[in-house]
Amino acid sequence: MVGMTAKTIAESRISYSRWMGVSDANHLGFVHGGIIMKLIDEAGGIVAARHSQRSVVTANLDSLIFLRPIHLRDLVTLTAEITYVGRTSMETKVEVHAEEIISGESELKNIAYLVFVALDGETGKPTPVPPLRLENDSERIRAEEAKLRMDHRLAQRKLASLI
Ligand SMILES: CC(C)(COP(=O)(O)OP(=O)(O)OC[C@H]1O[C@@H](n2cnc3c(N)ncnc32)[C@H](O)[C@@H]1OP(=O)(O)O)[C@@H](O)C(=O)NCCC(=O)NCCS
Repeated sequence: MVGMTAKTIAESRISYSRWMGVSDANHLGFVHGGIIMKLIDEAGGIVAARHSQRSVVTANLDSLIFLRPIHLRDLVTLTAEITYVGRTSMETKVEVHAEEIISGESELKNIAYLVFVALDGETGKPTPVPPLRLENDSERIRAEEAKLRMDHRLAQRKLASLI
């Protein structure tokens, strides 16, 4: 990371919407969980790629809780941002809201934390990413929480490698 200019969370934050169509839902009109998982992975990946300006791979997706169903014709909005940066890895937080267009009612449906690793374009190996420039206390607290999650994941990874 030496020599790399630090970047703020705001610089890579994204928010975008997708309308849920027939191919996204089952015959009862409930959107498939896999569709939402793909959108979450994509949103987190875009943020990590924007922060690092590198290709990234998903290294970890924490447990994903489907708080409430998302329905056919809902407008799904994904908001994603970096929460923590290691040497080559980045944690992103993705929130999923769904809005029922006619009533205008919007609800939080999912929150997910994903870790991405930046890869060097030539070697395909993990490569350093810019440090994070935290701008306020709220960001600093969230980064500390993220560090605890990272420590927990790495302990889990170590256990998995022993199996
Ligand atoms: C992720 C991957 C590149 C890590 O490669 P590696 O050779 O194990 O590299 P390292 O041990 O040097 O780890 C690189 C970074 O990833 C982090 N990392 C690796 N596995 C992790 C995991 N399961 N959870 C959280 N962080 C992880 C390491 O802590 C390290 O972070 P740091 O540099 O910020 O300290 C490799 O495991 C991989 O290619 N996995 C498959 C990815 C994939 O196919 N994803 C789905 C499609 S995109």
